[in-house]
Amino acid sequence: MLPAYRIALLCLLLVGLVRPLAAQTNPAALAQTNGCMACHGMVHKQIGPGFAQVAARYKGDPAAASQLAVKILNGGMGNWGRVSMTRYPQLAETDRLALARWVLAQPPLP
Ligand code: HEC
Repeated sequence: MLPAYRIALLCLLLVGLVRPLAAQTNPAALAQTNGCMACHGMVHKQIGPGFAQVAARYKGDPAAASQLAVKILNGGMGNWGRVSMTRYPQLAETDRLALARWVLAQPPLP
């Protein structure tokens, strides 16, 4: 049998290991809290393009993630139509990149 203090230590260790994982950016939650879903559907166009449509357009483009991260920073229009996307200067660069990668990872249209 392990002494109680060892078990307690083990628990602390586990909590320490799990916490950083949970704190990592969850792009789906970021999209919810930042209002992306007010304009974007996961699949189909609403006010902005569906995220699956974005993923399909930039498929195989290695520069896409960083380009889209810049688009999330500056907003703008012209790639999909004449409606403008909101700019998000308040988002951390890591969050913008995480969002861009998440959008690009959406599965293709059914
Ligand atoms: C006010 C509505 C609105 C909100 C809010 C919004 N978007 Fe957009 N988004 C658009 C529109 C409109 C476009 C198309 C812009 C264009 O034609 O270039 C777009 C385009 C995009 C694109 C494709 C960009 C490109 O150049 O191909 C991505 C990726 C994207 N949005 C992600 C997001 C994310 C992530 C958020 C939240 C952080 C968000 N959008 C919030 C309206 C919005």
